[in-house]
Amino acid sequence: MSRQPYLRLTFKGQRPGQRPTASQLVEAIRDQVQGGSSLEGCRLPPVRVLAHQLGVAKGTIESVYDELKAQGVVESRDRQGLFVAPRNPEVEVPELTRVPPLALKRLSSCQPTVTARPGMLHLSAVFIDPRILPRDRLAACFRSVLKSPGMPGLYDTQGYRPLREWIAERLRGRGIDARADHVVITNGSQQALDIVMRMAATGTVATESPAYFIGKYLMELSGMQAVGLPVDPFQGLDLERWEALLRRHRPGLVYLTTNFQNPSGYSYSTRELSHICRWSREHGFGILEDDWGSDMLSYSEFRPSLRALGGENVLYMNSFTKKLLPSLRIGYLLGSEATISALVMGKRVATLGVPAVMEAGLYEFLDRGYYDTFLRTVQEELDRRYRRCLDLLDRLMPEPVRWTTPGGGPILWLELPRSVSIPRLAARLAAEQVLIEGSEDAFFDEPHLHGFRIGYAFLDPDEMEQALARLSEGIRALL
Ligand SMILES: Cc1ncc(COP(=O)(O)O)c(C=O)c1O
Repeated sequence: MSRQPYLRLTFKGQRPGQRPTASQLVEAIRDQVQGGSSLEGCRLPPVRVLAHQLGVAKGTIESVYDELKAQGVVESRDRQGLFVAPRNPEVEVPELTRVPPLALKRLSSCQPTVTARPGMLHLSAVFIDPRILPRDRLAACFRSVLKSPGMPGLYDTQGYRPLREWIAERLRGRGIDARADHVVITNGSQQALDIVMRMAATGTVATESPAYFIGKYLMELSGMQAVGLPVDPFQGLDLERWEALLRRHRPGLVYLTTNFQNPSGYSYSTRELSHICRWSREHGFGILEDDWGSDMLSYSEFRPSLRALGGENVLYMNSFTKKLLPSLRIGYLLGSEATISALVMGKRVATLGVPAVMEAGLYEFLDRGYYDTFLRTVQEELDRRYRRCLDLLDRLMPEPVRWTTPGGGPILWLELPRSVSIPRLAARLAAEQVLIEGSEDAFFDEPHLHGFRIGYAFLDPDEMEQALARLSEGIRALL
């Protein structure tokens, strides 16, 4: 049988004596054979010929050809050699019968997503500065999981068991009676919120006003009536008012963020948490506690959570996204014997599962002890940034501006005189490369606060100084 002649491949840019690497060869061959459709079906040089031409080992060419086969660039034909694979044939598009778009729900008001342009100083970020997050150690753990024969091939809807065990043990150390069987791993704690909203058999939910606004939108999309419970980060809760609102609206679910409530930065006192548990018993509502701010504050762990005070029927959610890496997207929900099967079903319906390889990588990080080491350094850094932010506010802000002093962690609330228009201030600052996020949409009624969140965990001290100096000038100009 006569053989088809093979293609001549050229490799430019190689310095004499320098051998190309396998990945350079893959790229060079792919560029050449995909250059034009006329090469489809042409034969590639045999391994020994190309190895000789390039002065590399035959094994290198074999691995290059294997990679090109895996990428679908070439295909092997039985005993005839390797050929340039045909590209996807173009599909003939039939005549269009244009159909109408699907009617979608609309939110009554929706703050546009604010994203900082490159170079902008984000003064209201809830994130920790990615530059101080443990990316290298996380990467090492993910690499080790990906290479290990034990890499999970399938997934468990409830979540990777060792990770759930680790979480339960950690929570038990914080006075929460948690079992791995009652933990569901979620796609960020946002999914925990979504599952609870989807599964709660109630038409009315209450949350703080100002609320975590994405949570507020979720309630609206779930068709629930949402009631705002006013939080004043300077005064704490008006307990009488809360009780009256709970009595009047009779929500079936109350969703509260007990540490660093977003956006007010408020953390509940133990006395307030005890009242909430008592009202839950008296008025018969379920509780979802959002503890996203835990671990960010030094000396915070003795603060009892609602779950620790109210027992296993308080649903509890938390997340690694803010503490370790936002793009990790791993959070969790803690239920109880009475609630867990419905919560797992809620997750199955929504996403089937979180990528188990990510869960295993995170578990590796936690199990090696990196999390605790990291927390020690990050809390010190956040404390430093917090003190620096307070010093700068003291020095730079004009007289009528007030701010809260949460004691560390990620965010505080800055209250402005009513005469300063926040949208005008935001526009002026945006022109000066500083981003602030107003909270107008986060209130349920007429806003009782007039300010916004400052995230001191995100900017380094020099950036914070620049941002607050521009903020101060902006406020003075609008006063
Ligand atoms: C109070 C609060 N809860 C939950 C979330 C959801 O975060 P994630 O899904 O990243 O855990 C956020 C996000 O900013 C938040 O601010």
